[in-house]
Amino acid sequence: ADRAVARTIERVCAVIPDYPEPGVVFRDLTPLFANGAAFRETIDALLQQFEGSYDVIAGVEARGFLLASAAAYAAGVGVMPVRKQGKLPRDTYAESYQLEYGTATLEIHRDDVPAGSRVLILDDVLATGGTLAATTRLMERAELSVAGIGVVMELDGLGGRETLRGQRVSALYTA
Ligand code: PRP
Ligand code: ADE
Repeated sequence: ADRAVARTIERVCAVIPDYPEPGVVFRDLTPLFANGAAFRETIDALLQQFEGSYDVIAGVEARGFLLASAAAYAAGVGVMPVRKQGKLPRDTYAESYQLEYGTATLEIHRDDVPAGSRVLILDDVLATGGTLAATTRLMERAELSVAGIGVVMELDGLGGRETLRGQRVSALYTA
């Protein structure tokens, strides 16, 4: 089953050289999201990696929202949006991280999910790991435990695994 989903991801996802800037090989998952069979296979495979180990599923803006929402519905648990700065109206925790140029900040509401809950974090792509490391720091500050991190695609050679060491990370496909 793991091999089958990896083949599906490889076959369906688009690869765009020099986007959004020269030298970056961009991995576009929108064809996978648009393909009903491939999308369902992907969500099912992500959930299978972490069966029964979480109380809520967090998705990282923007592409992680699509995965987390579908997975949470399928699993019968709630969904938690990890948002870019300035979007959440009540008290938040905020964590900044490095992008290729400058920094960005992610936020969660302080009290949407009870302290002590186990959170499965989902996103589409693990590259440098900066985004997901900031997300794990947010969970720690909210006294939530990270049950695991699931991504559809891991980009090799960018240090993402190392950045997330100590976490349970599962990627369905490595490029
Ligand atoms: C992309 C991707 C991950 C992140 C991975 O999001 O969806 O969230 O980059 O990169 P990293 O491992 O180097 O941190 P992006 O920041 O482009 O935001 P978007 O989903 O809003 O387009
Ligand atoms: N996020 C960070 N790097 C990326 C890449 N090369 N393709 C898609 N999403 C990304």
